[in-house]
Amino acid sequence: MFSLSRSDFGSDFVFGCATAAYQIEGGQADGRGTSIWDTFSATPGNVHGGDTGAIACDHYNRWPEDLDLIADAGFDGYRFSFAWPRLIPEGTGAVNQAGLDFYDRLIDGMLERGIKPFATLYHWDLPSTLQDRGGWMNRDIAGWFADYATLIGEHFGDRLHATATINEPWCVAFLSHYLGVHAPGYRDLRAAARAMHHVLFAHGTAIGALRAQGVKNLGIVTNLQKCEPASESEADAAASHLFDGVFNRWYLDGVYKGQYPADIVERLASYLPERFEDDMGVVSAPLDWAGINYYSRSLLTEDSDNPVFPAKPVDGPLEKTEMGWEIYPQGLTDLLVRVSRDYTDLPLYVTENGMAEVEGDDDPRRVKYYEDHLRAVLAAREAGADVRGYFAWSLLDNYEWAEGYNKRFGLVNVDYATQARTVKSSYRAFQGMLHNTR
Ligand code: NOJ
Repeated sequence: MFSLSRSDFGSDFVFGCATAAYQIEGGQADGRGTSIWDTFSATPGNVHGGDTGAIACDHYNRWPEDLDLIADAGFDGYRFSFAWPRLIPEGTGAVNQAGLDFYDRLIDGMLERGIKPFATLYHWDLPSTLQDRGGWMNRDIAGWFADYATLIGEHFGDRLHATATINEPWCVAFLSHYLGVHAPGYRDLRAAARAMHHVLFAHGTAIGALRAQGVKNLGIVTNLQKCEPASESEADAAASHLFDGVFNRWYLDGVYKGQYPADIVERLASYLPERFEDDMGVVSAPLDWAGINYYSRSLLTEDSDNPVFPAKPVDGPLEKTEMGWEIYPQGLTDLLVRVSRDYTDLPLYVTENGMAEVEGDDDPRRVKYYEDHLRAVLAAREAGADVRGYFAWSLLDNYEWAEGYNKRFGLVNVDYATQARTVKSSYRAFQGMLHNTR
C-alpha cells in the first residue's frame, strides 16, 4: 500500500495510467497498414528475441477488459495513442473505416466508464510508406502529420480530454536516427539533425491544424532525463551540460522558448535543415499543458572518442530497475521545478513514470518506486511547480520496443501465452490510494 491518499494531491489532480498503440494493440487485422516498427522488429538483431508487436497484448480485441481494469483501479484518465497506420494505412490519403470504428469504441468505452481520454497522436509507429519517402528526415512530414491530426480532430476531437502531438521527440529523432536503437535504426548525424527539427516543426504544424478545428487542451510530451556529472571535474560538468542540451534543452528551448540552444545548434550546424530558424514560430506554437515523462538520471563523463558529442553516460551507484536505470525520485522533483521555473507557466502533467521489474504479480519494489515518485511530485508542487496530473507507465506489461516482451512495466501482469491479465501489488496500491478519499 502507499501511505498516501488522493487528498494529498487535491481533488482536481488527475491520476491515470498510460500505454501506446504498437505496444499493446496487436492486430494488423481490419486493414491496418505496416509501420516502421513492423519492419524494424522483423529485421534480425534489432529487438531482443526477435519479438514483434504482431499480437502484443491483443488489446485490439481485449480493450473492454483493459478499460475495466483502469476503471476498477479508480484512475481518472487513460493516456493512449492512435496508430497512424490503422487510421491512414498508407500514411496519407485513404482512411481505414475499421480504424475509425476501433477508436470510436475505445473512446466511447472510456467515456462510459468515466475515464478521461488523454490521446497521443504519434507514439512511434510511423506508416512504412512515409518512411519510404524519408520519414522524419523529410520536411513534408509536417504536412502529412497535420493532415493526420486533422482527421483525428474532426472525428474524435470533441471527445478527447487532452491531446498530445508527439510522444518523446528525443526518441523519435536522436535514439532512432543517431543511436540506431529504435526504428528506423539509423546512425547518421545528418538524419538525426533533420529529424530533431522536423519532429518539432511537425508538432507545431499539427497544433495549428488542431487549433483551427477548435480542439482543446493541446500539448506535447517530452522525456526528460536528469543529467549529472560523474565527477567533480570540469570536463564531466561540460559533458553533463552537453548531454542535457541534446536530451532536454533542445526540445524544451525549442517548444517553450522558440529558440534552440546555441551550443547544440553550433555542433549540428552543417546538418540542420536550411533556414530552420524561420520555422521557430511554428515550433513554439502556444500550448495548453506540458507533458513530462520521467524515469531516471544519467551520470555523464567526457567521451573523447566522439568529437561531435563528447559525452557518455556511465554506470551509476544507485539501485537499478530491470532496465538498468537508476532509481532517482529527486530527479523528478528537480525537473518539474526546472520546467516551471525556466520554461513555462503551463499546467504540468507527469505523462509517464514507472519501472521495469521481474515477472510476477508481487512487485514491492515497484510499489516503493511509485510511492517515492509520487512524493517527488508533491515536493515539486511544494516548491511551486503547477503539477496537475500523474500517469503510471504502464497499465499492462507490454512490448518494450527494442527489449521486446523481456521487460515488464505493467501494473497488470500479462501471460502472453493465454493473454490472461493478473493485477500486481502495485495496481492494488494505486487502487487503495485512489479509493481512499480521506
Ligand atoms: C517511454 C515510452 O514512451 C514508452 O513507450 C516506453 O515503454 C517507456 N518509456 C519505458 O521505456
